[in-house]
Amino acid sequence: MVSEMVSVRNICCVGAGYVGGPTAAVIAYKCHHIKVTICDLNQARIDAWNSDKLPIYEPGLEEVVFDRRGKNLFFSTDIDTAINEADLIFVSVNTPTKKAGLGAGKAADLAYIEKATRRIAEVAKSSKIVVEKSTVPCRTAESMRTILEANSTEKVRFDILSNPEFLAEGTAINDLFHPDRVLIGALQTPEGIAAQRALAEVYENWVPADRVITTNLWSSELSKLAANALLAQRISSINALSAVCEATGADVDEVAYAVGRDSRIGPKFLKASVGFGGSCFQKDILNLVYLSQSLNLPEVAEYWNQVYLLNEYQKKRFVKKIISTLFNTITHKRIAVLGFAFKKDTGDTRESAAITLIKDFIQENAHVAVYDPKVEHEQMYMDLSDNLPDTRKNVEEHLTICADAYEAAKDADAVIIVTEWDEFKTLDYQRIYDNMHKPAFLFDGRLMLNAEELRKIGFKVHTIGKNELAGTA
Ligand code: NAD
Ligand code: UGA
Repeated sequence: MVSEMVSVRNICCVGAGYVGGPTAAVIAYKCHHIKVTICDLNQARIDAWNSDKLPIYEPGLEEVVFDRRGKNLFFSTDIDTAINEADLIFVSVNTPTKKAGLGAGKAADLAYIEKATRRIAEVAKSSKIVVEKSTVPCRTAESMRTILEANSTEKVRFDILSNPEFLAEGTAINDLFHPDRVLIGALQTPEGIAAQRALAEVYENWVPADRVITTNLWSSELSKLAANALLAQRISSINALSAVCEATGADVDEVAYAVGRDSRIGPKFLKASVGFGGSCFQKDILNLVYLSQSLNLPEVAEYWNQVYLLNEYQKKRFVKKIISTLFNTITHKRIAVLGFAFKKDTGDTRESAAITLIKDFIQENAHVAVYDPKVEHEQMYMDLSDNLPDTRKNVEEHLTICADAYEAAKDADAVIIVTEWDEFKTLDYQRIYDNMHKPAFLFDGRLMLNAEELRKIGFKVHTIGKNELAGTA
């Protein structure tokens, strides 16, 4: 019986992505007594995890993986063996927004979760703790339990936990080493509580026990959606204020600092920007909107939908500002885009604001020269063409992928800062200015450059949430 299990010795993680890879690798790094096998259907991804060039870029990840790989950390496509050997299985597969069918555009596509769960049910020959690591709508664990229990026998029982992940990309390893909290939800039965304790003990190898929070299953599932919705809501709130700042001469950085000093509000996640991106904020807010609609709570759904809509507005507002400033046309102009990833220190481009912006520039028949230090070139083509051959041809005609920021900005009419890579702070902007068409415009979508210094060089600068005339007010 799982309720008698005292400690976890063998972990399998199904899904070797941005969450499964780093999370399970850190468990192996911190718990040498636990064998960890990370598995995936995608052979190329597993091969990359087993190679010198890992499939994702994340500061500190190589050190962790290279230290434990082949010792107590393994990457494999042999999912069945990994499931069978494990006493605890993380399900860390993707849960993207549904593209078709009921709830298309909002609801989470749970097909990958279901497939992984069925596989566990089919092949498990001994009792398992099954841990929902993916972000899922509230009560998904119930469906998992139904699938698993339909396949349980006297000898094989399954206990289901919810253990959502709160890491952010770019800081994943630090977040996993020093989490604000680890959340573990379980059915409040003796077996559920015993399974909850078994997983808590894994984390307590390096996380202080008072940071390991235990709740019921549904609170845990909803807390994950709620955390992302609240974080995204802060960004949409400050971005809404950024438009007011531009119209009034208030400075959004000053406003964020002033309000963030109130300890009830706090300073984090108040950085105005060209709009939040990433694989989860949009997906999870829409998921919450759909959940609220399904629960017949239209006002609640509308409330959260505004967080998403404001983010769309912020991206479009920035594009409009660029076009209007460049004398109402960017046709045949060269627009240098610095940054393609959705944030710094990651090569991930999912829902990056850069995709929306560049698609709009191409639509206006501009020529876009893009540079990003980490994003693969093929990824940019795929993101911009949505894998459609005709669109891809058009993208290739309008896009140049450059080796550095200087090449991108050469002969450009405007430079647009889209991702806040540190290296953009220390570029030789005099050199960039000298090689641009005049007037040389610079649009700072990340509020990261010193606009005054740039203006001294000769740039015409627009920064989100700042009004060029503010100094004269
Ligand atoms: P990802 O797309 O990078 O990785 C998912 C992996 O699962 C893929 O490699 C895919 O091949 C694999 N997979 C799918 N179905 C499978 C199956 N049946 N068997 C084996 N492998 C299978 O996704 P991700 O970014 O790691 O996100 C995973 C989950 O974690 C999502 O629910 C997401 O919302 C959540 N999450 C993501 C982040 C993040 O920063 N990316 C943070 C917290 C939570
Ligand atoms: C976010 C959450 O921060 C994680 O806690 C969560 O686990 C994760 O989503 C998830 O569920 O996937 P992530 O998307 O990786 O993490 O990165 P964030 O640092 O949250 O940034 C998201 C977007 O918001 C980025 O485009 C970033 O540039 C933008 N952002 C962030 C702002 O525009 N302003 C801010 O103040 C902070």
